[in-house]
Amino acid sequence: MITAKDLTLEEKFLLLTGRDMWRLTNANGKLPEIFMCDGPSGLRMEILDENGEKTGTIPATAMPTISQLANSWNRETVYLNGKTIADEYVEHGAHINLAPGVNIKRSPLCGRNFEYFSEDPYLAGALSYEYIKGVQDKGIGTSLKHFCANNKESYRVSASSEVDERTLREIYLTPFEMALKAKPWTVMCSYNLINGVYASENKKLLKKVLRDEFGFNGVIMSDWGAVGNRYKALKATLDLQMPYHRCALPELKDAYEKGLITDEEIDYCVNNIIDLIYKCHSQNTKVEYTKEQRHQNAVEIAKEGVVMLKNDNDLLPIKGKKVMVVTADGPIPRIGGTGSANVSADFKFIKLCDLLQEKDPTGSYNPVYTLNPIYTQCAEVDAVLITCFAEAEGEAYDRTSLQISKFAIECIEEISKHNKNIILLVYAGSAIETGDWIDKVSSLIYCGYGGEGIDQALASIITGEVSPSGKLAETFPVSLDQASCKFNQINGFLEDYSEKLMVGYRYYDTYNKQVGFPFGYGLSYAKFEYSDMQIKKLGDTDFEVSYTITNTSKVDAKEVSQLYVKHILPRVIRPEKELKGFSKDLIKAGESKRITLKLDFRSFAYYNVSLDAWHVENATYEIMVGASSRDIKLTQKIKIERADETQNSTYTHIIGS
Ligand code: BGC
Repeated sequence: MITAKDLTLEEKFLLLTGRDMWRLTNANGKLPEIFMCDGPSGLRMEILDENGEKTGTIPATAMPTISQLANSWNRETVYLNGKTIADEYVEHGAHINLAPGVNIKRSPLCGRNFEYFSEDPYLAGALSYEYIKGVQDKGIGTSLKHFCANNKESYRVSASSEVDERTLREIYLTPFEMALKAKPWTVMCSYNLINGVYASENKKLLKKVLRDEFGFNGVIMSDWGAVGNRYKALKATLDLQMPYHRCALPELKDAYEKGLITDEEIDYCVNNIIDLIYKCHSQNTKVEYTKEQRHQNAVEIAKEGVVMLKNDNDLLPIKGKKVMVVTADGPIPRIGGTGSANVSADFKFIKLCDLLQEKDPTGSYNPVYTLNPIYTQCAEVDAVLITCFAEAEGEAYDRTSLQISKFAIECIEEISKHNKNIILLVYAGSAIETGDWIDKVSSLIYCGYGGEGIDQALASIITGEVSPSGKLAETFPVSLDQASCKFNQINGFLEDYSEKLMVGYRYYDTYNKQVGFPFGYGLSYAKFEYSDMQIKKLGDTDFEVSYTITNTSKVDAKEVSQLYVKHILPRVIRPEKELKGFSKDLIKAGESKRITLKLDFRSFAYYNVSLDAWHVENATYEIMVGASSRDIKLTQKIKIERADETQNSTYTHIIGS
């Protein structure tokens, strides 16, 4: 095994940037080769000809998007997703999966929200941890991205995210900090500037925070083309510039000759890259699943993330009925977004109505493609199922609206004149607004971007084989106008994070705003009762919270319960409540389950910029267990009293009375 000292200066410089789009140099045969590929929803391996030109993409299992995984709130599901994706990397000889993205969904408009987990840092952190574990337990590396404060796509290479230190720590860095506990092999920096300095050159964030504070000792790579000057990025300890760039070598040579970069700085990054290369080649990898099993995993994972938002008069599940299936925006489901997360699905789609018919031979499911003649026929069926899309989502642009397609709205309007039993299915990767049409549909299912298995998952849910169990990992605002943030761009460059901590439900709940559907919301075919909350003190800031959930219905189902913490009388601004734990549990009909969650220092802490540290105030806190952020079922108060010199003196003492 070689180290930096075995390479010439030129070989080192060549190693500090990609050899091409996806590979690293082998340093004149001294090192084995490694190969990386996107991405978050499955293998996107480009097929290159002998000149390195792209000729196509290898077909692969299109897994649910990260947003869909987040709506599952299911740690095991996300772990399984990681393992399934890694399987194809093993099969095709790729070494690093360029995922997951943990950027916060600050605005529902961000074009890449479908690639991100949540508006909540805790949920994003907890689930990305599982994704990384799933992939890496199979001997494939990950790239935690995009570090950091990359929360919109337009102007992503020129805009500076202007975000204050406390907000940066509590909202935007926390998911990275939590995900890093799973030890991703690499971290990818973002395109944007943060407070005036490009992410790739941001010494404070890359060196001080990521490496020194968070303890990351793997490879920091750039996003594709995110390096402005190779030597400045090296100064910030960015190890690897991706992909190959013809300026990298001259920039490094020039800086070296001028004494701007030292041998130690170069060798530090070179050795990180060499360690990564050897790591990639020392894994005991093996293919675990057949193609069919991977597809089946995709179906099972998709099921977990489907969210039922409305179900008047228990219209769903539907069985043994006459149903008209109107695929308003086309018969093929939209399964993901565009850009680097796109996967060429290795799968032949079966029409939803055929899948439904197969699950429910007692019913009749009739597809309808041209609408004009059918509006009046709708009266003759028991229910009309309409499928539709919202505005397409993808990399490098943001959305302009949260609405479903105009045609779908027209279908709802017209069909509702003849039949009140409308079931609407929306395939989307991010928040949608429901508008006036919500009153005209009896049932609403948010399908997410569920990958190639989504329609099979939906067929199981619609016919009642399995209860929906997904809950929203992001708030759906009443309308775009009323969203907590629509972006706040100043002079074409700056993105002002002036809402500070008040992102998503932190905003809606703190300021008592009406929402379309709240964070953490999702219906089930079962009914659950929450009871018997108990809190045990384990240490100064450590508590064990337990409670019972009883399934009072006749249907086996999973329930996602959520643990929120509220500081009752804080001395600094704090959101109304913050998620600090969750659990997803299968509870059989008529049975109860006792759930135990832990709270620790960080569950109560805020980032104190005067102390430059996380801080827990001695105070009373309310601990809440809920079925969503707006449906709190159980609460109890606890007190934290620590002998701690950083606690504020009492007011009475200060004024001397
Ligand atoms: C994206 C990354 C992706 C990379 C390689 C960039 O444009 O932002 O997320 O991993 O391309 O495709």
